[in-house]
Amino acid sequence: MTGVEGRVVVVTGAGGGLGREYALLLARSGAKVVVNDLGGARDGSGAGTSMADAVVEEIRAGGGEAVANYDSVATEDGGAGIIATALDTFGAVHGVVNNAGILRDKAFHKMSADEWGAVLAVHLYGGYHVTRAAWPHLREQDYGRIVVATSTSGIYGNFGQSSYGAAKAGLIGLINTLAIEGARYGILANAVAPIAATRMTEDVAPAEVLEKLPAEQVAPVVGYLLSDECTDTATVLVAGGGQVHRVQQFQSKGLTFTGTPSIEEIGAWWPQITDMDGAVPGTNPVG
Ligand code: NAI
Repeated sequence: MTGVEGRVVVVTGAGGGLGREYALLLARSGAKVVVNDLGGARDGSGAGTSMADAVVEEIRAGGGEAVANYDSVATEDGGAGIIATALDTFGAVHGVVNNAGILRDKAFHKMSADEWGAVLAVHLYGGYHVTRAAWPHLREQDYGRIVVATSTSGIYGNFGQSSYGAAKAGLIGLINTLAIEGARYGILANAVAPIAATRMTEDVAPAEVLEKLPAEQVAPVVGYLLSDECTDTATVLVAGGGQVHRVQQFQSKGLTFTGTPSIEEIGAWWPQITDMDGAVPGTNPVG
């Protein structure tokens, strides 16, 4: 397995938590890593260089190759700067892990437009800005690996996380289309919903649960999706606590109406429309 040997991989938000574990494993596996981190607090406030620097030092101390970048993923200039760091330092970009994230949890009836926007800006727009800056280089070299950090909150919903869930589900929409547009250029785009003890989850579960969820257990899944050997694309994985699952959307057999049904007819046939017995993987009928 050649894995990620010699590949240049950008990991956003790699100054701590899961991103740090991704960066450390990738570097140990022979990748050249851009360790991006804005260095702020969990809610996105503040900034600093020490988080990214510490991870780069750790990688170099272990004999690996890494460079720090402190740009915010939330702006177009930031995305361009992150990819420029890869190109200027290592002469290429082969993989991008869109991992940077913040939280501004609040019940929807209390959520302001600013709080909503801040979360979308980092997760969803961040995924766009960094991937968009890398995309022409991936196409040109006929090789690329995109991984986005999604969440079970995006797949299934979670109280207080309407902004976060919308952003995380949006990233699945992004990789589904990148998988289609990137296919002929050897670009794969996949999503990982991690479950891990980090500063992001430190107050969402008791300590005895969190200690069974080390972030390092998620890293090999991301590493595989970045590897030369991976052939899957538009795949969503849930990974944490040693478990790895694939999640997929299915559609029911449903019904075909010959004309336009009335509201009453839809109601009458509702049990058959929604019956998931015999459901098959969903596909885009206009794709
Ligand atoms: P974390 O808070 O430890 O890591 C997020 C990192 O992103 C931080 O180091 C932070 O400084 C950085 N960051 C924030 N805004 C940034 C910006 N604008 N530009 C660049 N860097 C920025 O949290 P954790 O848990 O490691 O999260 C990593 C990713 O995994 C996030 O996208 C998160 O939403 C996702 N995730 C984590 C879960 C978990 O169980 N820990 C569950 C589901 C998803």
